[in-house]
Amino acid sequence: MSTSSHSYPMSSGEDQHSYIHNSSYQKAGINGVEERIKQAILEKLDLQLNSSISNFTIADFGCSIGPNTFHAVQSIIDTVKFQHLKQNNETNIVPLEFQVFFNDQSNNDFNKLFKTRPLSSECQYFLAGVPGSFYGRVLPRNSIHIGHTSYTNHWLSKVPEHVCNRESPAWNKNYIQCNNLIEEVTKAYKVQFIKDMEVFLEARAEELVHGGLMIVIGQCLPDGVPLYETWQGHVVETIGDCLMDMAKTGITSEEKIELFSFPVYFPQFSELKRTIEENGSFMIEMIETISHPFENMRLTNEFITSMFRAFLTTMIEQHFGNGVVDELFNRLAQKLSKHPIDFEMWKTQVVYYVVLKRK
Ligand SMILES: C[S@@+](CC[C@H](N)C(=O)[O-])C[C@H]1O[C@@H](n2cnc3c(N)ncnc32)[C@H](O)[C@@H]1O
Repeated sequence: MSTSSHSYPMSSGEDQHSYIHNSSYQKAGINGVEERIKQAILEKLDLQLNSSISNFTIADFGCSIGPNTFHAVQSIIDTVKFQHLKQNNETNIVPLEFQVFFNDQSNNDFNKLFKTRPLSSECQYFLAGVPGSFYGRVLPRNSIHIGHTSYTNHWLSKVPEHVCNRESPAWNKNYIQCNNLIEEVTKAYKVQFIKDMEVFLEARAEELVHGGLMIVIGQCLPDGVPLYETWQGHVVETIGDCLMDMAKTGITSEEKIELFSFPVYFPQFSELKRTIEENGSFMIEMIETISHPFENMRLTNEFITSMFRAFLTTMIEQHFGNGVVDELFNRLAQKLSKHPIDFEMWKTQVVYYVVLKRK
């Protein structure tokens, strides 16, 4: 059912480089908006709409290997249970049963995900893995009461074609990301992002029941801030510099680097809002941003290097082959220790959270 899409799962396994041990930045973003999301569920989820339901279904799209997905799902379940009790002010109320679908690309390490799930005493729901790209249908029509996704929608279904085409004005020759320095490149990425977001929302609209909620959490740029002015953009530029250094020693080639660009796009907030508003299947119940909770912390070089390594490794290995990742991230660590990030100087991304109601 799902359409094909490039697939770069987070680093699997349980070693120090795994996403399991390097996802606390994303977790902090999710935690930062948790109370607002709970409030939105309490206010906007109308269980009376579906008064005949005894099984409540939740799906997390782009769940990776944990632990964030389990935390997000549990928070939704606790809130729905609370609301269910409140709306059915009876003592003999039949408890809801919960079914949770964990979706990610088929090469995500689902075994690891399920091995690290919370103990069965804490994890009181039925769970199933759903492999496939969320840029297409992955679940039956009208089957989900609450959909959730966090830190996923900046991953595009593919690198926009022109960006790796030597003949195109949108060729991103000197950079490995859309850093907003070249207008044609930004435009190509933006077009792809809008297309992907439309497909994502259309698929979710089919899967959600009427009145169901879709929660979308992620990171974007504040209005007027290009990625090259943020510390996150700066780290990726530094990774590009490390690759160029490696090309000089023959570990990779400049040609390979020139044809490499991340399939990742961070929209500015109003751009994201417009894209969501244009979708006709959902009502926007909430769309806001907060500062990332770690913003005022001095993140260490080690933390930053490990965080970027955990989500970029698969992509780098697919393009440059095995054996470059250790060298690349050792070089990144060295560069960052020689030139520490001055957080006062750089701007930063913000956390956005969106709650949509299926019309
Ligand atoms: C940064 S991780 C976020 C994981 C988790 N949601 C969290 O908040 O920690 C992004 C996840 O999105 C998944 N992803 C990216 N594109 C996808 C697609 N087209 N379909 C399904 N999953 C996708 C990746 O495989 C990865 O596991």
